[in-house]
Amino acid sequence: MPRYTPDTCAIHYLVFIGEGRRLAHAAKKIENAKAPDRAAFAGWLSTTNEITRAFLGAGEIKGLINIAGGLPDPTTYPVEDIAKIAAKAIRDYPAETLGYGPIEGLPDLRSQIAQRFSTPSMTLSNRNVLITTSGMQGLDLLGKALLDNSDVVAGQFPTYLGALDAWRPRQPQFRNMDFTSEGFDPNTAMQGAKFAYTVPNFSNPTGRLVGTQLREALVAAADASGTWLIEDDPYGSLNYDGLLPPSMLQIAMQSGDTGPVVYLGTMSKLISPGLRVGWAIAAPEMIEALTLAKQGSDMCTSGITQRIACEVLKSGIIEARQAQVADHYRARRDALCAAMSEHLSDWFEWEVPAGGMFVWARARDARINTDRLFEIGLEEKVCISPSSVFDAHGEDRQGMRLNFTLNAEEDLTEAIRRLARTVERFLKEDI
Ligand SMILES: Cc1ncc(COP(=O)(O)O)c(C=O)c1O
Repeated sequence: MPRYTPDTCAIHYLVFIGEGRRLAHAAKKIENAKAPDRAAFAGWLSTTNEITRAFLGAGEIKGLINIAGGLPDPTTYPVEDIAKIAAKAIRDYPAETLGYGPIEGLPDLRSQIAQRFSTPSMTLSNRNVLITTSGMQGLDLLGKALLDNSDVVAGQFPTYLGALDAWRPRQPQFRNMDFTSEGFDPNTAMQGAKFAYTVPNFSNPTGRLVGTQLREALVAAADASGTWLIEDDPYGSLNYDGLLPPSMLQIAMQSGDTGPVVYLGTMSKLISPGLRVGWAIAAPEMIEALTLAKQGSDMCTSGITQRIACEVLKSGIIEARQAQVADHYRARRDALCAAMSEHLSDWFEWEVPAGGMFVWARARDARINTDRLFEIGLEEKVCISPSSVFDAHGEDRQGMRLNFTLNAEEDLTEAIRRLARTVERFLKEDI
């Protein structure tokens, strides 16, 4: 399979979101072009997982049901509310929305975030908050601010593919932290690591919720080892079945400061990913380092979308729609899991996630190789995310991530029927 080029690497997320056709053509053109006699691309580009390269073709397949990506349902976007807020924001704040702004972000938005995340034990100030060009930039800036070549990153396993890709250019060593393995010890896992990366609320890819006890243990271990503890939280608002444990940020703040925690938030799943507005909350010295890193990245996040985000946060729209969005996605989750129980339970096991966007299925049958299922699935017109892409070492071939937020119930059911045919074909092939 061909190796990554810079262009293919940068675009694989977009393929997930339906831009596949246009970008696959672009990638093909690059592949077909005669190799120019110019300097070589950076070495890290050839270290990414090859299976992700195959996603490029997926957008071209007519009638494909894509349960591989991690996208919200566009019908949940509050279009009219945002349109009104946007028009008013530009008229009311022309210099702020149409000009350059401070690197750290609009003071008004920073203080909205500081207020939202303050607790009785600690009041956050703007010095604890950096506005980012969405959550993904927070991950990128952390790599820029913290990682030198060969530094250790201890990452919750399996982990978010985008985080791995954000840090690969820094060429760190990835150490897997499997919270489900018996005898997992946060102190040992974090020893000597620059930072530990976690998605405790309905993780990507597993949909799992980390319990209070483990959260406390992670904060204590990070404190003891001097490791920064990244709490990446895009999915906390997509909560379908119950209450959330306290965030690790809240746990750290009980002692009066943010301690080792760097909390990353985003508007993407709260309201819409197109805003590209996120935030990092941390100790002032970390915010200063991230601000320096951001200066060389994009100078500032778009003033228009920051102002829209600020007005959205003030308006109460998020709280008003949260229950309705949860009902919508809960029904889709239940439809996917019901179809899985009917068609896949001989070969896979999974837990029904209490929130987020994904069901994580593990093979019961050791012969199953989900990289190969991904390939056969494309022929059966269903696209899944194989587990190898969520493993920093690319070795795990016994799992798959299935998304339930993007497609309607009947399409999810059909996707699972196709996946069952895919498994049957794979098993015949294997014999
Ligand atoms: C765990 C995790 N972190 C961060 C992101 C980045 O999201 P955004 O850049 O849209 O905020 C995602 C997106 O899917 C994610 O799943």
